[in-house]
Amino acid sequence: MTLPEPNPNARAVVTGASSGIGTALAAELAARGHSLILVARRGDVMEELAATLRRTHGVEVDVRPCDLSDRDARTALVDELSAREVSVLCNNAGIATFGPVADLDPAYERAQVELNAVAVHDLTLAVLPGMLARGSGAILMVGSAAGNMAIPHNATYAASKAFVNTFSESLRGELKGSGVHVTLLAPGPVRTQTPDPADASIVDKLVPDALWVSSEYTAKLSLDALAANKMRVVPGIVGKAMSTAGQYTPRAIVAPIVGAFYKKLGG
Ligand SMILES: NC(=O)c1ccc[n+]([C@@H]2O[C@H](COP(=O)([O-])OP(=O)(O)OC[C@H]3O[C@@H](n4cnc5c(N)ncnc54)[C@H](OP(=O)(O)O)[C@@H]3O)[C@@H](O)[C@H]2O)c1
Repeated sequence: MTLPEPNPNARAVVTGASSGIGTALAAELAARGHSLILVARRGDVMEELAATLRRTHGVEVDVRPCDLSDRDARTALVDELSAREVSVLCNNAGIATFGPVADLDPAYERAQVELNAVAVHDLTLAVLPGMLARGSGAILMVGSAAGNMAIPHNATYAASKAFVNTFSESLRGELKGSGVHVTLLAPGPVRTQTPDPADASIVDKLVPDALWVSSEYTAKLSLDALAANKMRVVPGIVGKAMSTAGQYTPRAIVAPIVGAFYKKLGG
């Protein structure tokens, strides 16, 4: 097993813990006995989750509200994590935009790069020295099947996730034999909440129910993969199909096909 043993002095850090896959990762780690640091912007939501996890699993839970797209706000968290015993880091927080990048808000596109890519880099570099010194640690990088492809109408997201996918699998190679393990979660569509039929997004309408995987399933599969020291975990049929198409088909063929699909998402 490569997931460090739970230890009350150590913390498993989950970014984006206030919803979706992040909440499920926090719950699954707590169920496995890990004390936590939860990170996202919505402190009130995380405080509620923390209270539930403390009560249900008897673990310690610290809540750190932080806008990870803001370099100054991130610095305080980076400093804290550098100084603490972090046994597990789940770099999960992320956002996506759809549409032609020239039509999108440049400030939000930049925030997306900061959150999806630069913050992942910063937090990883913050915890790595301590993990290497202890010869023990596990890092789950939440990239995406979208990070294997060129995706018109999802350009900033696809590029930011390409960074995560490549950083994860490159770093893993550097850390071989160190006791620190890195696994990439590269999902396709993960259903994080039941869509309201009146307000369903185009992706909810286009992807049939049977092809979605849940946050809880994704979290469990991911932590099992981290414990088994897998290089990459891809839950679900759509994710696997996207991974195969993105990695083994020429981009000139795949880009216009996925671009036409994503154009509908941006509409
Ligand atoms: N769901 C999918 O289909 C899917 C597929 C492939 C990859 N992924 C990846 O999986 C990860 C989680 O996705 P999800 O679907 O669970 O997303 P989600 O439900 O929208 O949750 C996103 C999380 O990120 C946090 N967040 C957003 N902006 C932030 C900021 N500036 N600073 C700090 N935290 C911020 C949000 O919390 P606050 O709003 O409280 O800050 C929330 O906890 C993302 O990296 C996503 O790209 C998801």
